[in-house]
Amino acid sequence: MAAVHVNAPGSDYDILIEPGLLRRAESWGLRGSVVVITNTTLAPLYGASLAAQLSAALVTMPDGEPYKTLETVGQLYAGCVSAGLDRGGTVVVLGGGVVGDTAGFVAATYMRGVRLVQVPTSLLAMVDSSVGGKVGVDLPQGKNLVGAFKQPEQVLIDPEALQTLPEREWRCGLAEVLKHGLLADPALLEMASCSQHNAPATAELVRRAVQVKVDVVQQDPFEQNIRAHLNLGHTFAHAVEQVSGYRWPHGEAVGVGLLAAARLSYHLNLCAVSLPEQVETILNDAHLPLRLDNLDPQALYAAMATDKKWQNGRSRFVLLRGIGQPEIVENVAPELIIATLEELQ
Ligand SMILES: NC(=O)c1ccc[n+]([C@@H]2O[C@H](COP(=O)([O-])OP(=O)(O)OC[C@H]3O[C@@H](n4cnc5c(N)ncnc54)[C@H](O)[C@@H]3O)[C@@H](O)[C@H]2O)c1
Ligand SMILES: [Zn+2]
Repeated sequence: MAAVHVNAPGSDYDILIEPGLLRRAESWGLRGSVVVITNTTLAPLYGASLAAQLSAALVTMPDGEPYKTLETVGQLYAGCVSAGLDRGGTVVVLGGGVVGDTAGFVAATYMRGVRLVQVPTSLLAMVDSSVGGKVGVDLPQGKNLVGAFKQPEQVLIDPEALQTLPEREWRCGLAEVLKHGLLADPALLEMASCSQHNAPATAELVRRAVQVKVDVVQQDPFEQNIRAHLNLGHTFAHAVEQVSGYRWPHGEAVGVGLLAAARLSYHLNLCAVSLPEQVETILNDAHLPLRLDNLDPQALYAAMATDKKWQNGRSRFVLLRGIGQPEIVENVAPELIIATLEELQ
């Protein structure tokens, strides 16, 4: 079994990665009252069996980002009350990032906080959203506007669950894995071509990608400095999501955002042209989009300029001097940003 240890503020916990974990829940050692929270897609796949093994109540929410709301949180609180979850109880959160964030927020706030066990089932949730303690929901005014920091008791990852993940979601998660590879672990760039059906291979991919996020988050648990490196490719990605009216899924936007960041790094003479070329090859191998299609560069630039990380109109990007060498660069000339976007049309 692979374990990654996390030193989080006020708590230490392990992230366990092991094929078959979901079939061996009796051995998880949970105490007290337990509620499993999942969504309607995952309930029949894994949720019902997990709740039965844990002798726990199963509470479900609808599937999808539009349900990552305070209204859903209210319904989940009601489900926890009906199930008799008390102060000493545990919420087991089974699902992708949407369930993880929403039900994680329930665990952070129900009765001023109960124990949380994260069981991420999407690749993105395994390598990204279940690590770092951020939980929360969207408001009509914007994404992730309400939330908390809530460290889990443990994170349990069963790579076998990836076999039922829709292929497009798998590819979207790969974009975040590639981001981690570019930030800190070049081996991940080679491993990203593995099949989602090869549990030993995905276990190793997840372990290494999780380690990158853990290393960054441990150095900067409250997002004061180097955690910003995790935004590699994301300034571009958020603009792509916004301008496309969210028709571009996050992971695909991150993929092309990584390429844009690598190309901008090259234009600023931070790296050789071989870096963006390598990123393009890797994205192509991962079947992620390489071009922005019909998205207008001026509109993308205007969307970026509203990024909350750009202070007083000064642009701010995470760029690369090379693989494993991220750097924050401010005040990049708008013409250069727009030229980079035009190259990707
Ligand atoms: N908290 C954080 O630090 C953090 C970081 C990154 C992203 N996020 C959040 O994560 C969310 C995105 O997460 P996501 O990409 O996992 O999306 P998601 O939770 O919507 O999952 C994607 C789809 O895959 C399905 N699914 C998940 N696992 C499956 C499995 N094993 N088998 C079959 N289907 C499965 C889900 O039901 C859903 O339909 C966003 O809301 C984002 O804001 C949070
Ligand atoms: Zn992301």
